[in-house]
Amino acid sequence: MRVLFLTHSFNSLTQRLYAELGERGHEVSIEFDIADTVAEEAVAQFQPDLIVAPFLKRAIPASIWSQHLCLIVHPGIVGDRGPSALDWAIQEGEESWGVTVLQAEAEMDAGPIWATTEFPLRRGKKASVYRNEVTEAACGAVLQAVLRISEFNAGRWAPWRIAEARSPVRGRLRPLMKQAERAIDWRQDDSASVLRKIDAGDGVPGVADLWFGVPCHVFDAWPEARLRGTPGEVIARRETALLRATRDGAVWVGHARRADGIKLPATLAFATEAAAVPEAPLEGWWAPDHATWQDIRYEEANDVGFLHFEFYNGAMGTRQCQRLQAAFEWAQTRPTRVIVLAGGKDFWSNGIHLNLIENAESAADESWANINAIDDLAEAILRCGSQLTVAALAGNTGAGGCFLARAADQVWVRAGVMLNPHYKNMGNLYGSEFWTYLLPPRVGADGARNIMQRRLPMTARQAVDSGFYDLCIEAEQGKSDRQLAAKRARRAADEAAKPLAEYRAEELTQMRRNFYGFDPSYHYARHHFVHKVPHAWTPRHLARHRDKPGERAA
Ligand code: COA
Repeated sequence: MRVLFLTHSFNSLTQRLYAELGERGHEVSIEFDIADTVAEEAVAQFQPDLIVAPFLKRAIPASIWSQHLCLIVHPGIVGDRGPSALDWAIQEGEESWGVTVLQAEAEMDAGPIWATTEFPLRRGKKASVYRNEVTEAACGAVLQAVLRISEFNAGRWAPWRIAEARSPVRGRLRPLMKQAERAIDWRQDDSASVLRKIDAGDGVPGVADLWFGVPCHVFDAWPEARLRGTPGEVIARRETALLRATRDGAVWVGHARRADGIKLPATLAFATEAAAVPEAPLEGWWAPDHATWQDIRYEEANDVGFLHFEFYNGAMGTRQCQRLQAAFEWAQTRPTRVIVLAGGKDFWSNGIHLNLIENAESAADESWANINAIDDLAEAILRCGSQLTVAALAGNTGAGGCFLARAADQVWVRAGVMLNPHYKNMGNLYGSEFWTYLLPPRVGADGARNIMQRRLPMTARQAVDSGFYDLCIEAEQGKSDRQLAAKRARRAADEAAKPLAEYRAEELTQMRRNFYGFDPSYHYARHHFVHKVPHAWTPRHLARHRDKPGERAA
């Protein structure tokens, strides 16, 4: 089928559906929801058999849904309607939630139901639930709906309406959640409800709050099991996070956005105020036996060390790279055979930290410092001769993060993870992280060019099929000795053929041009990305319906 996606952006859920439908032989093209006339034009050009709206913030115009089958992905259970579906479900502590695929009609989210899937709702950030449970459920439901189209066309199956439901429907119409409903009273609320409120608003829009008397929005809440203080007071700081006491404990807040500012680590958003707050450091890298804020965490099981790095949004700033490198180098001193670089639950890494760069006095200097810090980390992983290294990708990974992972001997990816192993979308950035050393041997020179130029997401399966990533690691005793010896020999041979320093210098020459050169594309693109400037057009590599005749098949 020809499937047109009408979507607010090419976000992770849209990318996943794009890949899943593409893998099943459907021709998918994308149009961003910019204006009704633009959407109408895309429909006229593409003549789709089906229109899917994976992530839409406005209604589809009647001129389109009255002529074409349009399926809307709603992140809610049957009967649920409104723009804050997940926010309400998380804030009210629903035990299970779901995704429903409905046909577009005049009334929003009220059309006939084509498919629905439910899942247990865990405690977690809204964006995390969206990227994991909602995305999985949406894939299942959309694929089921697509399969039902031929049955529907043959008159053997029909979508159903709520009025026809055999049992009572739990979902209902709920309004946009307002900040008054999200408000935290730090003196009166217990920690569980503070966590729920911040989770329900993460990553957009956050919870409007007052910190040190300054209006801001807060994000990225973590529980704290031990530290206590006067309810309402900010009682401790650790690296990028601040701890504030509640009625019955305390909650860490990792990120904040001041009025008119951008989202930043909390200790940076309140740099002056936080300086007076006492530090609550952790000893070393070991994971503590109680809940607390710890972005880099080490665990060991038998002769395997696990290094977790839970960096918000997968963004890795200069200091985060340096601390992770220190933790990695310390992990190498442990009597282990394998180090698993486990990343975070939601992201493994999305490369350099664009918000910190945007906030810096000189964006070019901070870009330069950050790329060098991430390259140092990549180099430390590449040169590790004492253990086998495994990058275990449980969450989505993008740009430099994809190549940082490839610096490990093995890359394991969870099925369902979306990868974006390219840089060009960020203002034609050349990229570093030794991609010129790491990518071509895995996929060939043409394959590397293709991945970099096409700028399309890749599923975990596609990454493994192409040879870019590996599926699993065999690390039994005996075998790992041979693997370690082979790894040292391979690195030495590669170094003799062309030193890592040369790859790095060549990449960084290009990056210097991106950061300091005449062409400001990277600085514009980053500014637009960080400030979430709405798209003015759909990129041509996504809007295949705008290809000239003959181009589309390519
Ligand atoms: N630095 C800072 N923030 C980043 C980031 C980065 N490198 N990558 C992602 N984010 C943030 C986004 O701004 C967004 O923030 P929010 O919590 O305020 O909404 C959040 O992470 C999620 O990103 P989003 O784009 O909504 O997720 P997605 O799953 O739809 O898309 C990517 C994932 C990786 C394709 C996309 O985030 C991206 O292009 N990131 C930039 C990668 C890059 O160019 N890095 C620099 C070169 S190494």
